[in-house]
Amino acid sequence: MNVSQAIRSKRAVRSFSKQPLKDVEVRAILNAGRRAQSTKNRQERHFIAVQDRERLKALSKGGAFAGHLKCAALGVVILTPRPEDFYGALFDAGQSAAYMQLAALELGIVSCLATLYKEEKVREILQPPKEWWPLMAISFGYPRDKKGLTIRLLRGGRKAYDEVVHQETW
Ligand SMILES: Cc1cc2nc3c(=O)[nH]c(=O)nc-3n(C[C@H](O)[C@H](O)[C@H](O)COP(=O)(O)O)c2cc1C
Repeated sequence: MNVSQAIRSKRAVRSFSKQPLKDVEVRAILNAGRRAQSTKNRQERHFIAVQDRERLKALSKGGAFAGHLKCAALGVVILTPRPEDFYGALFDAGQSAAYMQLAALELGIVSCLATLYKEEKVREILQPPKEWWPLMAISFGYPRDKKGLTIRLLRGGRKAYDEVVHQETW
């Protein structure tokens, strides 16, 4: 799969097979996040890789729409400074997230983001230093069934080119 195919076919997938990821796959995903560009190359991010089922289940309660983490083969929590302390924090986290998700897709591994709104609950589970903010997580895994993935692909949609692209001025 080349980059443009990956960009075109990537969709949020929230159900996963029980197949675990190989260590080399987990590492490839995390390396993609580590290699992503960042504001002034500050690289102000940490990643917590979670594969323990009980910890994933606990994390899945850390956000209103984070339930998919409980059946993921791998959850990656991205920790950043708070945006009031570093304006680029969330933009940079998004770069790492996209790189990790695309690197995973190349390996046939699907993913979905989860916003962890319940900060205190998440802090109890992961015990990060207080200056690192664990707002975003990503579930990764092999798709539960290929048919489900195809249906999801057909349903996914994006606004039309002319609706969002402007030439020269608005
Ligand atoms: C910043 C951000 C936060 C998101 N948070 C969640 C979330 O908490 N739970 C979830 O199931 N999906 C979450 N998503 C996934 C979006 O719902 C998904 O990317 C969007 O609906 C497009 O899906 P598609 O690519 O399958 O068309 C999030 C996506 C982004 C970019």
